[in-house]
Amino acid sequence: MSYFSTKKRIYLDYAAATPLDGRVMKAMRPYFGVEFGNASSVHAEGRMAKRGLEAARAEVAEALSVRSEEIVFTSGATESINLFYKGVIEAAPVDKRHVVTLATEHMATLRVLQDLGCEVTLAPVDKDGLVSVDEVMRAIRPDTVLVTMMYVNNEIGTVLPIAEVGKALAKIKRSTKEVYPLFFSDAVQAACALKLEVTKLGVDGLCLSGSKIYGPKGVGVLFIKKGTPLKAQILGGTQEGGRRAGTENVVGAVGLARALAIAQIEHEDYEKKLRPLQSSLFAGILKIVPQAIINGSRTQRVCSNVNVSLPGVDGEALVMYLDEAGIAASTASSCTSSAGASHVIKALGRSDRLAESSVRFTLGRKSNKSEIKRVLKELPRIIKLLKID
Ligand SMILES: Cc1ncc(COP(=O)(O)O)c(C=O)c1O
Repeated sequence: MSYFSTKKRIYLDYAAATPLDGRVMKAMRPYFGVEFGNASSVHAEGRMAKRGLEAARAEVAEALSVRSEEIVFTSGATESINLFYKGVIEAAPVDKRHVVTLATEHMATLRVLQDLGCEVTLAPVDKDGLVSVDEVMRAIRPDTVLVTMMYVNNEIGTVLPIAEVGKALAKIKRSTKEVYPLFFSDAVQAACALKLEVTKLGVDGLCLSGSKIYGPKGVGVLFIKKGTPLKAQILGGTQEGGRRAGTENVVGAVGLARALAIAQIEHEDYEKKLRPLQSSLFAGILKIVPQAIINGSRTQRVCSNVNVSLPGVDGEALVMYLDEAGIAASTASSCTSSAGASHVIKALGRSDRLAESSVRFTLGRKSNKSEIKRVLKELPRIIKLLKID
């Protein structure tokens, strides 16, 4: 198996997981050792841990230009999404049960909304996964409790018009003088590539995950705008301002905060480095397979995502052969990769066959020209092996 081959592996699945940044590890290290205390304890060890936790909260708040009290640490984006959707719907008046979202959202969003039994309107996305502000506004009704749209699509890299929707919603709320519809954005895939100015986005809630920003796994952030009615979902102690009970993951919070601060400071360098690599990977693939279809917007797209459908090629087999050749890519989101053709690609209006022939490469901080060159060198051989028509 190539895991043990001497050839250096090429990792192009940074949307699934990022390695821990050395600077993040350095910030976390004391909290594995001497600063091990429980942040809720009153003694010196507890107070030390509490200081670390609150410094991490302040660092996240600063990176997002929000207040510390608006930051809740969770176990990841899935938990943040569960907490926000369930929490706001349970806290809302009973006649507010309608939600607006998109068919291209992460399964965490779609599954939670399905489970909550709300009436859900899917605002239509175009063939690139984009939605117009007008379409979102058209979907809103007097009983709409929540509008939720991811900032960057994890499968196709499309950047959605969050600030524009936020502005239009603020206008509605100014005229009705209500807090509803609340506006939420899953910004998990945005933090390395884009500046996250939360107040400019006009959201009431936003989530992030440590594992996608060169931070630790198992820790996430939920921003909850001050004044947002929300009922806690994990009950017990009074941690996280009563919004999420349980002993705080101080080391995780410290790591996530450092990772987010670095990601936000370095997002322009990230763009400068990855955009040309993305262009050459797209160009190279189109040269090898001229019928290849780019999934996602060409212009409204983060610099790290390359997603294509290769007609007549089975995406899963391609990913397995690439793996054997030492290259890590994926078919769709890692969370849905065992569930058949991607719901995101299908929502763009592509056939099941085209959805099944998609492959996603996601670039990261360590990606370089020679890696792209090697992918483009391996691809023709593998595609020739797999092509069925
Ligand atoms: C856009 C998006 N939202 C949510 C999640 C879930 O994040 P977590 O694994 O931190 O729960 C992911 C993970 O792949 C994601 O890409």
